[in-house]
Amino acid sequence: MRSVWIPRTGPPDVLELRDGPEPVAGPGQVVVRVRASGVNFADVSARLGLYPDAPPRPCVVGYEVAGTIDRLGAGVDGDLAVGRRVIALTRFGGYAEAVAVPVAQVFPMPDSMSFEEGASIPVNYLTAVLMLRHFGNVRAGDRVLVHAAAGGVGMAAIQLCRIAGAEVIGTASAAKHAALREAGVAHAIDYRTQDFEQEVKRLTGGRGVDLVLDATGAFRKSYRTLAPLGRLVCFGFSTAVTGLAPNRLAVIPKLVALPWFHPIRLMNDNKAVIGVNLGHLWDRIDLLRREMLGLLDDYQAGRIRPIVGKTFPLTEAAAAHRYIQERQNVGKVVLTVA
Ligand SMILES: NC(=O)c1ccc[n+]([C@@H]2O[C@H](COP(=O)([O-])OP(=O)(O)OC[C@H]3O[C@@H](n4cnc5c(N)ncnc54)[C@H](OP(=O)(O)O)[C@@H]3O)[C@@H](O)[C@H]2O)c1
Repeated sequence: MRSVWIPRTGPPDVLELRDGPEPVAGPGQVVVRVRASGVNFADVSARLGLYPDAPPRPCVVGYEVAGTIDRLGAGVDGDLAVGRRVIALTRFGGYAEAVAVPVAQVFPMPDSMSFEEGASIPVNYLTAVLMLRHFGNVRAGDRVLVHAAAGGVGMAAIQLCRIAGAEVIGTASAAKHAALREAGVAHAIDYRTQDFEQEVKRLTGGRGVDLVLDATGAFRKSYRTLAPLGRLVCFGFSTAVTGLAPNRLAVIPKLVALPWFHPIRLMNDNKAVIGVNLGHLWDRIDLLRREMLGLLDDYQAGRIRPIVGKTFPLTEAAAAHRYIQERQNVGKVVLTVA
């Protein structure tokens, strides 16, 4: 069984394909034969040594897969028969031809869903659900600023905003603006060359937006774009990633420059600052399960459609990482196993 390892921090080429023993299905687990594995920005950050939640190196990352059930552990029955097409939240180990997963993290896939689509759902859409529905209380008529809107989480968030009847202002590199408009974004801002704060003020007639989803780290400015009663969701810090190779020193001034939000100021501004980290909710698998089942219903009803931007064979995981770091992706990047 082959898997892709991060042996040490470094540029994409440090990723190593290794042969190893087949995983064993422990009690209450199944082994999934992987057909598609979702690539997340967190995996890139893990390779660069910038992701505190990553397992100790050498490690195999990968939060989510789609494939077929290969073996059942003791006590597994019901829906999850051998050969069944499934999606699984793996919490590492997903960059592999097979992975053992507890059944609570496994979901039967709709017949019409491709493996690539299946591997594109869990992390992106669950994160978007937590931000927009649990915390953000997104409603019809709201204006939502989505940073890196053309990425995996961004595209999922756009679709959930559309379901809610909210209008999206999306930031992304200029080459992605046509894709954003096609996805239903009302206004696209090139946040690398334009001042998004000024643009948001202009687009909203000075009022600001009701919700900001920010994983770039521009929290201070994002906060200023909020209208009264607005909510800022902080869920990442992608500007910490400065190049293909690790550069931890470059992160320090960015960390130091992060804002502190004082309760008295929040009170007087009528604004909320919220943090979301899906990776810290593993002890709430009941909640994640409920939301995943809801998302699969949304898929079957045609309300959501995962945007698979590009696929790479598992053996070319390094190219997948480079593709994301060079900001080329629109939607999800997926590794495939023939
Ligand atoms: N807290 C959570 O639970 C959670 C869960 C999932 C993801 N996240 C975070 O959400 C963000 C999006 O994740 P994703 O997996 O969907 O990735 P993604 O958005 O598909 O990531 C790639 C895109 O990010 C943008 N980007 C911004 N800063 C970048 C940088 N320094 N280097 C390269 N690209 C950069 C680029 O788009 P442009 O060309 O438009 O700049 C790039 O195409 C990440 O920061 C991730 O860590 C957090």
